[in-house]
Amino acid sequence: METERKTKTAAEQMTDRDLSEQIKMVTKESHVRAENTELMLSYQRGQVTLAQYKLLLCSLYEIYQALEEELDRNCDHPAVAPIYFPAELARLEPIEKDLEHFYGQDWRERIVIPAATKRYSHRLRQIGKENPEFLVAHAYTRYLGDLSGGQVLGRITQKSLGLKNGEGLSFFSFPGVSSPNLFKQLYRSRMNSIELTEEERNSVLEEAVRAFEFNIQVFDDLQKMLNVTQTESEMQSRTAQSKLTNGDS
Ligand code: HEM
Repeated sequence: METERKTKTAAEQMTDRDLSEQIKMVTKESHVRAENTELMLSYQRGQVTLAQYKLLLCSLYEIYQALEEELDRNCDHPAVAPIYFPAELARLEPIEKDLEHFYGQDWRERIVIPAATKRYSHRLRQIGKENPEFLVAHAYTRYLGDLSGGQVLGRITQKSLGLKNGEGLSFFSFPGVSSPNLFKQLYRSRMNSIELTEEERNSVLEEAVRAFEFNIQVFDDLQKMLNVTQTESEMQSRTAQSKLTNGDS
C-alpha cells in the first residue's frame, strides 16, 4: 500500500479536496471568459499589435510590482512560504527590460497605467496587508497562467511583431524553469500543502475568481483605451483628408 502510494505520480495523488483542484474548478468559467476578451481573441487570431502589447506590458508592470512586493514582504507567512519562488517566477525585472526596449531609457516617465490596472494593484496591496493568505489565489492566476497559455502568447507576440533575438519578450521567458509542466506540478503540490481553515479556503477560492475578474477588467480597459485612440486618429485623418479635398488650409 505504502509502495503503491509512493509510485503514484503527483497528478494522480491529487484529490478534489486539494486546493489546486478546487481553484481550477471554481475558475474554469472565468478562464473561458478571460480567453474571450478582445485582447486574448486578438492573440488567438495571431494578430496582436505593438500598441496592444506595449499597453499590456505597462499593466503587467503595475500588477507584478504589487504582487511581488507583497509576496516578498510576506514570504515567511505560512500561506505564502510554500509558494514563494522568486528565483523561478519573478517577472518584474523581465518586464522592466521589455519596457525599456519599447519605450526607451526614460520608460518610467512614459508608461501609462489604465484605471482597471490601478484597481487590481490596489487590491493586491490591500490583501498583502490584511489577508496575506489570499495572495496564493493571485499568484496562481498569474504565474500558472504565464506558464500555461502564456507560453503560446509569447510565440504569437514574437511572430506578430517580428521581434528578433527575444528582444522585448523577456516577460514570457522563465530561464529558472526548465519544464513548465513539472514546475506546475510542484507548484500545485505546494499549494496543497498550505493549511487553511474551511473559511479561509473558501475565501481563497472566492479571491481566485476575483483575480480572474481583475484580469478581465484590465484587458477590457486596455482595449477600450486603444479603441478610443484609434477612433480619434481615424477622425483626425478624415478631417485632414476633407480639408485637403475642400482646399481648406
Ligand atoms: C491554464 C490557455 C488566458 C490563467 C491554461 C491551459 C491552457 C490555457 C491550454 C491548460 C494548461 C494545462 O492544463 O496544463 C489559455 C489561452 C489563453 C489563456 C489560449 C488566452 C489566449 C489566460 C488568462 C489567465 C489564464 C488571461 C489569467 C489571467 C490560467 C491558469 C491556468 C491556465 C491559472 C492553470 C490552470 C490549472 O492548471 O490549474 N491556459 N489561457 N489563462 N491558464 Fe490560461
